[in-house]
Amino acid sequence: MTDIVQELKAGATITDVLRSQQSYHEQRRWGTDALFDGRRLSRPSAADRAALWHAARAELTTQPAGIRLAVDGVKLANEIRESNPLGSDVLHIAAAWSARYWLEEEAHHEIAFGRLMEMAGIDPIEETEVVECRGELPRDNYARVCVLQACVEIEACVSYGWAARGTEDELVHDVFHTVMKDEVQHRQYFASFAKALVETGVYPVKDVLSMAYSWVRPDGGETFGSAREAQTERQGHVNWWERVRTGDEEYGLADDSLHEGPIHAKKLSSVFALVREATGIQAESYDDLKRAYFASLRTNDIDRIRSAVRAGAARETASAH
Ligand SMILES: [Fe+2]
Ligand SMILES: [Fe+2]
Repeated sequence: MTDIVQELKAGATITDVLRSQQSYHEQRRWGTDALFDGRRLSRPSAADRAALWHAARAELTTQPAGIRLAVDGVKLANEIRESNPLGSDVLHIAAAWSARYWLEEEAHHEIAFGRLMEMAGIDPIEETEVVECRGELPRDNYARVCVLQACVEIEACVSYGWAARGTEDELVHDVFHTVMKDEVQHRQYFASFAKALVETGVYPVKDVLSMAYSWVRPDGGETFGSAREAQTERQGHVNWWERVRTGDEEYGLADDSLHEGPIHAKKLSSVFALVREATGIQAESYDDLKRAYFASLRTNDIDRIRSAVRAGAARETASAH
């Protein structure tokens, strides 16, 4: 379901959309007990252990976001029921997906990585840290949170894909690969919610662009996580990407699996693709995205934003010659 508004305009009800969400969820379900059944780790490497240390912690922080999107989605849907019925439908659909499927699937990830991490000989996550990772997600505008989560899912997809390809251990491979396939779907859902919220006029396009921009900007963007000079105050919420261990730290990740080379390039191009899907605006680079975002502060017209991006790129090419 990538075009919710089109479905709704063609006559689908909230119930119709939720039935297709349910059936898609049922088709794709997998279980941790079945995945682990009788299996053991054969050759977990230091890189596998580092990846597991991080994945187990990252997955713990998803629950507060799921609760936030479920609760705030219904609340906002009810507030705009009269003034924007189509937008209200979209919010009900996003809130239900978050409450039912996203939270449930992320529970699978949390349990799978937690178990595997302990099987690899890493200490269990202490209860104080578990509790800390349930810190409430601060309130923000719903479209921005959807884009934020899509970016986090991209981060997970790329990192888990990297871990799955790099390991020589079959169980490590299967867990990372299985979870990665869920994360791809999550990213897709969040992109479709952001798109539908803009199309129904619940939020202007600048909200989608501003979040994507603050994710990738080279001067302190979220994707640089713990490598950033300064971290933002989070009011009790834990952003796992700000706690990433690097270099010689115990379970540290190598830079080329984070902010450099092909992995980093893949993260960036995935965020540009997300922007394209959610807004129809083609951004091929950070500079394009910046132009789009700045133009969106002046206008909500997609065509005018597109031409601002093209004009900026043309000026750049001309000045380079
Ligand atoms: Fe996950
Ligand atoms: Fe996810």
